Amino acid sequence: MKKTVKDIAVTGRTAVVRCDFNVPLKDGVITDDTRIKAAIPTIKYLVDNGAKVVLLSHLGRPKGEPKEEFSLRPVAVRLKELLKSDVMFVKSDRVVNDNVKSLVKQLGIGQVMLLENVRFRKEETENDTEFAKALASLGDFFVQEAFGTSHRAHASTAGIAEFLPAVSGFLIEKEVKFLGDALDNPERPFVAIMGGAKVGDKIKVIENLMEKVDSLILGGGMTYTFYKAMGYEIGTSILDVDSIELAKELLEKAKAKGVALEFPVDVVVADKFDNDANRKICPVTEIPADMMGMDIGPASIERFDKILSEAKTVVWNGPMGVFEMDNFAVGTKAIAEKLVESEAVTIIGGGDSAAAVEQFGLADKMSHISTGGGASLEFLEGKVLPGIDVIEDI
Ligand code: 3PG
Repeated sequence: MKKTVKDIAVTGRTAVVRCDFNVPLKDGVITDDTRIKAAIPTIKYLVDNGAKVVLLSHLGRPKGEPKEEFSLRPVAVRLKELLKSDVMFVKSDRVVNDNVKSLVKQLGIGQVMLLENVRFRKEETENDTEFAKALASLGDFFVQEAFGTSHRAHASTAGIAEFLPAVSGFLIEKEVKFLGDALDNPERPFVAIMGGAKVGDKIKVIENLMEKVDSLILGGGMTYTFYKAMGYEIGTSILDVDSIELAKELLEKAKAKGVALEFPVDVVVADKFDNDANRKICPVTEIPADMMGMDIGPASIERFDKILSEAKTVVWNGPMGVFEMDNFAVGTKAIAEKLVESEAVTIIGGGDSAAAVEQFGLADKMSHISTGGGASLEFLEGKVLPGIDVIEDI
């Protein structure tokens, strides 16, 4: 068990809190503030308990240089609205220097300050010791709240913990509980659904989950690489050529271990990558040479529904089809609706599957939606995430 903010004295002390405020922006406007909202309970706890709060985050990949479009200023504005209190934004491209240090010293009890994008300094991604030390010098303890960045060993996510006692915030606590319990102690039957376009991104997760689940459902763009590996005609469907061999190995491993991988039995194919394309349903063994698979078909939905209706724990990562186009969102939506209906603990990996359940208006009906894309995948791969590893054990 990891220590949380509740296991440490916070009153009158300065907390350096690493959040993941890497939110999507369009023309300077935040288009999805889920990650900001997710950090609010921890910030509020610290404020209500008399701590002084210094927030750190990255935004995008400015590659070690200050770039205005990656400034955290819009995040500070949104934070103010959500906290309903003032948030001081320190616009220093150096993130931390003597001036910033003296501003932090002047913070009063319950006050909140957000520093500029830590990736404006190349030392951040290099996990530079001096930079980590400078960040640590701002406070009395470190709070890890950036689940989405916890797979990165950077100065503000890992290095800093060498110089400060490190505890987790409530978001990290929740993420680790849901994902960790699913992997280590799931209520059974435990079903995983893996989808998405690229097999390469999911191979290690599938390998790890194969050992733990009762059923493993596969769907979405990556299945065509598996069909190719099985020797089927896949027409013009998306193919990850570099992963065909990996797919073959995985199929063999599953066979050797006696694990049943549940593939779609039918697909919706289209003559072009367009919502208004001509489309039809066909068995996976009969994909026409000039058409591409865009969604799972009704027989697959029925089969997957049956498996899911028995499940007590479900982890879902990756859509079943091109859900961004209405005509090919049916399979992904059917799975989402099935999960809403089910009594299972339902855990949605971040990224596209999270976006899909948001799009269908079903997000608040799931037990947990991870704020981490890459991080939740690496967690499900069974890897030790450096940003979580540094948090002190109880
Ligand atoms: C994410 O959005 O996955 C995290 O914020 C990490 O961002 P990164 O992939 O740029 O490290």
